[in-house]
Amino acid sequence: MRRSKISEILGRQQAGDEVLVQGWVKTKRSSKSVSFIHVNDGSTLLDLQIVADQSLPSFQVADSLSTGCSVSVTGTVVDSPGKGQKYEIHATDIVLVGGSDPETYPLQKKRHTAEFLRDIAHLRPRTNTFGAMARVRNAVAFSIHSFFQERGFNYIQTPIITTSDAEGAGSMFRVTTLDLNKLPKIGDAIDYEEDFFGKPTFLTVSGQLEAEIFSQALSDVYTFGPTFRAENSNTSRHLAEFWMVEPEVAFCDLDDLANLAEEFLKHVFKNVLDRCSDDLAFFNRWHDQTVISTLEDIVSSNFERITYTEALELLKNSGEKFEFPVEWGLDLQSEHERYLTESRIGRPVIVTDYPKEIKAFYMRMNDDGKTVRAMDTLVPRIGEIIGGSQREERRDVLLARLKDAGLSETEYSWYLDLRSYGTVPHAGFGLGFERTVQFVTGVSNIRDVIPFPRTPKNAEF
Ligand code: 4AD
Ligand code: MG
Repeated sequence: MRRSKISEILGRQQAGDEVLVQGWVKTKRSSKSVSFIHVNDGSTLLDLQIVADQSLPSFQVADSLSTGCSVSVTGTVVDSPGKGQKYEIHATDIVLVGGSDPETYPLQKKRHTAEFLRDIAHLRPRTNTFGAMARVRNAVAFSIHSFFQERGFNYIQTPIITTSDAEGAGSMFRVTTLDLNKLPKIGDAIDYEEDFFGKPTFLTVSGQLEAEIFSQALSDVYTFGPTFRAENSNTSRHLAEFWMVEPEVAFCDLDDLANLAEEFLKHVFKNVLDRCSDDLAFFNRWHDQTVISTLEDIVSSNFERITYTEALELLKNSGEKFEFPVEWGLDLQSEHERYLTESRIGRPVIVTDYPKEIKAFYMRMNDDGKTVRAMDTLVPRIGEIIGGSQREERRDVLLARLKDAGLSETEYSWYLDLRSYGTVPHAGFGLGFERTVQFVTGVSNIRDVIPFPRTPKNAEF
């Protein structure tokens, strides 16, 4: 018999069929004559109750089960008299597939701390929280693709090993096969000609520049891939390895881009609300009681749009005591972003036109000579979830910005070439995938929305 998924069994129109269910035991309650076994196979948050009575030839097996065992159950789907579940299975056979010592199995019925679960990241997918997290990640990823695919964007795979620091922020992981104990040298300098690629290489901090190349031929493209940043920031919103979605659009200015970002986030949030209702109800109950209402509000309201300069005015006149200074020219800190979106405006805010000094070299210069066409999208609880900009398409202006940033004209010659041959106004943004999952689940620490978090001093599994 083919294995049925628990999600499929619970979603049936009616009881009656004989099915095969396979999964892991969550709990077992036994009396002399009957055992109730709750089994989960990860297809849904909900466990399926298996009822095994003593007439069953394998009743001994049923009675011996404990949390963590894997089982194979054949039985009939019947209406459940108990509350909380639609159907249960009256078992005709139960086979123990893999035992689990109850003395040492680390997952107990009680609620475990996030810190404890991070240490057992090989078993945490079996918990309600991590099962739900994995399904939500899956649904969010799918909705990201569906949004762009429905609009005719082409999915581009950009390199993971790269030579360019796209963000110019210098927080890159080096990729090398050189023996660190025996570095080849020319004088005092390391001889990178001896290295695998014959020059210094790094893990990518963004696929944007390569996406720009393809946008200048296919018009509407997006990337969705792993991104690496060696920032030493131990916060609840930073990972050293995270996933980023980067659409890049030709013949597009910042206003069009802001509209795209708003439509995109609403599409993703609506999809998760529709597809993951059980999982979201779980997060809403146990992690953040405002998660569902916040998502519903966002889907049906409009994002605010303000400039950086206006944002500064709001912050200055707020009467709030901030830890970091509020001054034109300084970057917005998380506390400022959260004040704007949570307290002051109460919904997502798109902040545009930041001072050029605090943004990357590729952003389009405004006529004031002081600000660039940057755009950050801020959402409650998280702050910045999207960062993007209109790109500088004027070759001479770009070259000046490159030089100001201390970058090499030769190394970026290909990037300048795009502005020499048929340049077009274009724009794009990056959405942090984990911050998005954090936002839709209400999980407070970003380490708990990725299967295997990489943060300073931590790269287990
Ligand atoms: O604002 P960022 O640095 O923008 C870029 O990298 C541009 N190249 C994007 C583009 O225009 N194509 O990063 C984009 C988003 C941030 O808004 C944030 O959500 C996420 O990526 N992000 C991180 N997420 C987790 N951990 C980190 N260390 C992150 N750094 C950025
Ligand atoms: Mg940013």
